[in-house]
Amino acid sequence: MKNLFNLDGKNILISGATGVLGTQITSYVAAHGANLFLLGRSEEKLLNLKSKIPNTQIKILVADVTDESALTKVAKELSNEINAIDVMINLAGGNMPGAVIRPDQTLEDLDAGALKKVMELNYQGTLLPIKAFLPLLNGGHPVSIINTSSMAAQRPLTRVMGYSSAKAAIDNLTKWLAVEFAQKYGPNMRVNAIAPGFFLTEQNRALLTEVNGALTVRGQQIIAHTPMGRFGEDEDLLGTVHWLASDASKFVTGVIIPIDGGFNAYSGV
Ligand SMILES: NC(=O)c1ccc[n+]([C@@H]2O[C@H](COP(=O)([O-])OP(=O)(O)OC[C@H]3O[C@@H](n4cnc5c(N)ncnc54)[C@H](O)[C@@H]3O)[C@@H](O)[C@H]2O)c1
Repeated sequence: MKNLFNLDGKNILISGATGVLGTQITSYVAAHGANLFLLGRSEEKLLNLKSKIPNTQIKILVADVTDESALTKVAKELSNEINAIDVMINLAGGNMPGAVIRPDQTLEDLDAGALKKVMELNYQGTLLPIKAFLPLLNGGHPVSIINTSSMAAQRPLTRVMGYSSAKAAIDNLTKWLAVEFAQKYGPNMRVNAIAPGFFLTEQNRALLTEVNGALTVRGQQIIAHTPMGRFGEDEDLLGTVHWLASDASKFVTGVIIPIDGGFNAYSGV
């Protein structure tokens, strides 16, 4: 019987691969036989990650995801080497302190420059790589593009102003591209997103836990609002990414999948 979840030999391009979630996802798809194309700013970090993933064909692509000309250059170079990308996982993204309104601040304190950067990193940083690598994606072969949203998208997180807006834009873009690509390039080209709940990573550890490991007030609020009563753990994203990347989800496009222990479904009562 056909293995619907087969990733063996698939060409998978990943941005943000050296990040916390990216490292786990990259190692996982490598272990399932994918050929990897890792897109990032720091050649050193990418090579370091590559050295930790043996027995896998890995090509490093050095470009900032917000730099269209650098992306176009690496995409052109890559198209001299391969004919197609099968899966593109856009993980590069993140928050910026200036785009957060602290309790002692008001909207007047918003750093418009930081807001611009957060929108640029998350929104343009997803759209521009898709645009640059489109010639390797739109050949009619089965393609799965996986963007990265957040719990902040559908219900903006208190204080986290810029990031919430940027991830909401990712949800909208994901749906828009799903329709555009299916209509223009055929039903094999899919675009979906994962919306991770609260995973304890370096970016948010200080927000969610005290130095002694106890939960901060915000950490407590999140756990109280998560029916499963815990933060996301390393393996929690992998099954959803595997499913979206593979033919097992071949009739699925334009959806944003929460991986959140029920946070998104919980009304609080
Ligand atoms: N960690 C969480 O709890 C969580 C929850 C929801 C969504 N997310 C999203 O998941 C994704 C990965 O998060 P993470 O926790 O692994 O973050 P991380 O900061 O550990 O990793 C982010 C990655 O993006 C790369 N990156 C940043 N700016 C870049 C640029 N301009 N060009 C190229 N690469 C760039 C970084 O080098 C790094 O590899 C992000 O989009 C984040 O917003 C994370």
